[in-house]
Amino acid sequence: MPIAILSALPEEQDGLVHLLQDVQQSEHAGRVFWRGSLHGQQVICALSGIGKVAAATTAVALLERFNAQAIVFTGVAGGLGDGVNVGDVVVATDYVQHDMDASPLFPRYEIPGYGRQRFACDPTLTDKLAQAVRYCVEHQAAAWTATLNLPAPRMHEGLTVSGDRFVSGAQESAQLRQGLEQAGLHPLAVEMEGAAIAQVCADYGVPFAAMRSISDRADDAAHVDFPKFVQSIASRYAQVVIEDLCKRIAA
Ligand code: ADE
Repeated sequence: MPIAILSALPEEQDGLVHLLQDVQQSEHAGRVFWRGSLHGQQVICALSGIGKVAAATTAVALLERFNAQAIVFTGVAGGLGDGVNVGDVVVATDYVQHDMDASPLFPRYEIPGYGRQRFACDPTLTDKLAQAVRYCVEHQAAAWTATLNLPAPRMHEGLTVSGDRFVSGAQESAQLRQGLEQAGLHPLAVEMEGAAIAQVCADYGVPFAAMRSISDRADDAAHVDFPKFVQSIASRYAQVVIEDLCKRIAA
């Protein structure tokens, strides 16, 4: 059974489909799905679209229609944690929806009906993904970040948060972080899809792992940093890390 490789934007997955062998394209629910094999591992590549609902729809399609046995997300995020800089990579250990607020009926950030705020990524798949990311960061990615005059990247592992908002102001990002920290949540990165996919995967009992390269600091420069990074570096991480991950899964 195949593993699914998801990104939100075409720029985040550019070139990955060309690495597949025996590619078949199909359409479902307004999305294009590319099936093929990579180093002997069956994969399906697709774009989730932007935001939690689009991502949840794509995840369900992958599980129900294409029998995905696991979902791996590769894309970009805004850095929130101290020292999580543009060019670095965050491998998610767990996810929270930062815009979930059913208080005072339920505690802030808790998903009603689930009795919890956090959805954990699969430890085994995440470990393999982290090994692939670490190798890439240590051996290849410094050459890419240098093209944007950024220092050699570092890898981080920890909580990532998602919500239907592009966070693009220093004050907004500080408030977001403060609210989460008051609830004992210490996010490294913010994006717009992962927590929805983590919840769908938990519902179906399917492993989920995610890596996000940091395109911006979710601050006043985010709207400039984001497109620059997405256009030049995001897909390189996807190609190199996913190829390595497939080798590790097939080994
Ligand atoms: N993805 C990349 N950067 C982001 C940001 N600043 N806010 C939300 N999602 C993002």
